[in-house]
Amino acid sequence: MQYSDVFQKVVAHCKEHGFIFQSSEIYDGLSAVYDYGSLGVLMKRNLSSLWWKAMVQLNDNIVGLDAAILMHPQVWKASGHIDAFRDPLIDNKDSKRRYRADVLIEDFIEKNLQKAIKETEKKFKKEGREDVPAEEFQRRLAGDRAHQKAEEYRQRLATALNAADMAALKQIIEDAEIADADSGSRNWTEVRQFNLMFSTEVGSIAGEGSTIYLRPETAQGIFVNFLNVQKTMRMKVPFGIAQVGKAFRNEIVARQFIFRMREFEQMEMQYFIKPGTQKTWFEQWLEARKRWHLALGLRPERLRTKVHDKLAHYADAAVDIEFEMPFGFKEMEGIHSRTDFDLRQHADLSGKKLQYFDPEDNTSYTPYVIETSVGLDRTFLAHLCNAYTEEQAPTAEGEEALRTVLKLHPLVAPVTAAVLPLVKKDGLPEAADKIVADLKFDMQVTTDHGDTIGRRYRRQDAKGTPYCITVDQDTLSSGTVTVRERDTMQQEKIAADKLRLYLIEKLDVRKVLS
Ligand code: GAP
Repeated sequence: MQYSDVFQKVVAHCKEHGFIFQSSEIYDGLSAVYDYGSLGVLMKRNLSSLWWKAMVQLNDNIVGLDAAILMHPQVWKASGHIDAFRDPLIDNKDSKRRYRADVLIEDFIEKNLQKAIKETEKKFKKEGREDVPAEEFQRRLAGDRAHQKAEEYRQRLATALNAADMAALKQIIEDAEIADADSGSRNWTEVRQFNLMFSTEVGSIAGEGSTIYLRPETAQGIFVNFLNVQKTMRMKVPFGIAQVGKAFRNEIVARQFIFRMREFEQMEMQYFIKPGTQKTWFEQWLEARKRWHLALGLRPERLRTKVHDKLAHYADAAVDIEFEMPFGFKEMEGIHSRTDFDLRQHADLSGKKLQYFDPEDNTSYTPYVIETSVGLDRTFLAHLCNAYTEEQAPTAEGEEALRTVLKLHPLVAPVTAAVLPLVKKDGLPEAADKIVADLKFDMQVTTDHGDTIGRRYRRQDAKGTPYCITVDQDTLSSGTVTVRERDTMQQEKIAADKLRLYLIEKLDVRKVLS
C-alpha cells in the first residue's frame, strides 16, 4: 500500500469504527464540519490531556484558562482580524469550484519540489551512488530546473502575499499555467479577498452594533485576560497561559476531511516574556513542541519545520511544524513570536494599561509573547495517518491473513485494554467482567464476548487497542491471564492480580513526557 492511499483508507476507517462522522449526515452533511464518534472522542481527549500535562502540569510557570467563545467585537478590531484576517480566493468559471489562490500556488511549488527530489535521486542512482551526503544532495537539487522553478514561484508568492497584491497572485496562477484539478480548465476569475470570521447577532434586535464573531483563534481570550491571570495567580515573567478550545473559520477550501474544518479545536499557549528575549524563547519552544510530537510516536521522517515566508500581521518570526499527511507535508502547529502587538493593541483600544511591573528591575513594560498553537484535529489526523497499517500477519488459527491495525501510541489509543473471555461459558465471562471492574478506574477498558478469539483480536487491532487480555481456564485454575501486545502480537502469561500494575506501568506518562 502506498502512503498516498492511506488518506482514503483512514477516512473510511474513521466512519466504520466510530472515530469520526460527517456532521448532520442524515441531511447530506454540512461541509467541513465533523462529529467525533465514541472512539474518536476518547482519542481526542487523550491527545488534549497529554498536551495539557506537557504544558500546564509539568511547567510550574504555566497556568490554564477557559475563555468564552463569544467576545466583545472590539477584541477582533484590536487584534486586526476584522481588517486583516482574509484569504485570497479564486473561482474557476467552468467548474464553478472555489479555491484559495495561495494554496493553488503552494501545491504547484510542492509538486515541482517533489519532482526535483525524484529527478535528483534518479541521477544519483544512475551513477551507482546511494548514501549521498545531505549537503551534496542539496547542492545537486538546487541545480535542478524544477527546483529553480519552485524557488522562483515561492519568492513571487511571498512578495505578492506580503503586499496583499491580488493581481500579482492571479498573474502567478496564469504564468504557472495552473489548471483546476477537477476540470482541467484554466478559466479563472480575478483573485478576491475573503474575511474568514463567522459573524452572528447578539441579543434580540438585529442590526448595527450587535454583530459579534465566533472566535477564529483561542489566543485572544488569553490576551484580554492577561492581567486577570497574572495578578490572581501571582505570575512572574516569564510565564505562560494555556488554553484548549473551539475556533471557527469560514474556510474557502473545505476539503481534506478534518484537516481544514470550519469548526475545529486549538491548543494554544501564550508565553509572556521580557522584550529582547524572544529569539531564545522562540527556539526553546520550537524544540519543546517538536519533542512532544515525537514522544507520542509521530515518525521523525514525517515531521519537518518550515519558516514562514509571509508573516501574519502580528508576528516578527514564525515557524510551522509540518507533518507529512498522505497528501503532502502540511502545517500542524505554528510557533509565533507575536511581539507585544496584541497586548498593545488591546491597551490602546480599551484604554486599560496592560503592563507588567517587574519587581526585579523596578520597571513596567508590555511583555512580548511567544505562542505555540497546535490544531487538535490536525494532530488527531496525523496520528491516524501515522498509525494506519495494513499487513500480512498470522491469525490465531496459524494462517496468514491481512490485518488492519492502528499502531497508535498506548497513551493516545482510545481504549487501553480489551478483556476477552476465551469462551462464553464455564464462568469465563464473569471472570472477565471482574477484571474489567478492577481496571476501569485507571484506564479505558472494554470487553468483547462474541466471535472467535482471532476475530476479536483483529477487531481490537483496527481500533488501535494496544493490549488484549485473554481470560481462559488457567485464569480460574491458576489465576493467570494472557496479554497480547498489538504491534508484535506477542503473548505473555501474567498473574491476573498483577495485571493492573503491569498496565499502569505501560501507561507511564513520566517515561514519555519527561
Ligand atoms: N493563534 C494563532 C493561530 O491561530 P494558525 O496558524 O492560524 O495560528 C494554528 O492556527 C493551528 O490551528 C494550525 O497550525 C492548525 O493546526 C490549526 N488550524 C487552523 N485552521 C484550521 C482549520 N480550518 N481546521 C483545522 N485546524 C486548523
